[in-house]
Amino acid sequence: MTGPIELTDDPVPTIPVDDEFSLTPARWEDRAAHLEHLNVSPLIHHYLASIPYPYTEADADEWMREILTRPYTGCDEADWTIRLASGEAVGECWLLSILRGNRAEVGYWMAPAYWGRGIPGRAVRALSLFAMREFDCRKIVATIRDGNGRSRRVLEKAGFAFEATLRSHTVHEGRSYDVHYFGLWRES
Ligand SMILES: CC(C)(COP(=O)(O)OP(=O)(O)OC[C@H]1O[C@@H](n2cnc3c(N)ncnc32)[C@H](O)[C@@H]1OP(=O)(O)O)[C@@H](O)C(=O)NCCC(=O)NCCS
Repeated sequence: MTGPIELTDDPVPTIPVDDEFSLTPARWEDRAAHLEHLNVSPLIHHYLASIPYPYTEADADEWMREILTRPYTGCDEADWTIRLASGEAVGECWLLSILRGNRAEVGYWMAPAYWGRGIPGRAVRALSLFAMREFDCRKIVATIRDGNGRSRRVLEKAGFAFEATLRSHTVHEGRSYDVHYFGLWRES
């Protein structure tokens, strides 16, 4: 990181989930974990093209600067660190396009070393219920690219229902993919 950064005094609130992990604001000390986790496999970049692979020191600096300075109040997006009870940062989940009284979109990634523990589904469920309370959202949406069976399962376990497929909706590395939309409604 070059130069000092002024940390926001308005970080995201911590969302307790269970004994294994919680959703917390990012910390400067998480930078090393990001570098490690996001360089293990190109799969995270494959499904989330905005996260580069390889993930460089400069990428980590840019992300930490953004996440540590962004105010929570009034923003239409917010990002939480998935943090084990030990304090270790093992992934992220976020809300995008927050429309108060209406809708928000959820997204997530998990460090490959921790795949298979069922953490993302519980994180997505907790964050979605939080958004319904905090922002009065009636619906939470999520999208997955065709072929991302793990992510589809995460959404199903979080209580989301499949809604629609948009055909050839996105291009990644020169190839077109269908995108599947999922929803979780406040009544459900
Ligand atoms: C998607 C992701 C968060 C899942 O993390 P995870 O820790 O493995 O999640 P879980 O522990 O819930 O396990 C995944 C589930 O998918 C199942 N699964 C694994 N491979 C699968 C496949 N190819 N097809 C369908 N289901 C699969 C597992 O059996 C498990 O379900 P189960 O608990 O019913 O047995 C993680 O793989 C990831 O970060 N991927 C890259 C980023 C990404 O895709 N983000 C979402 C963008 S929409």
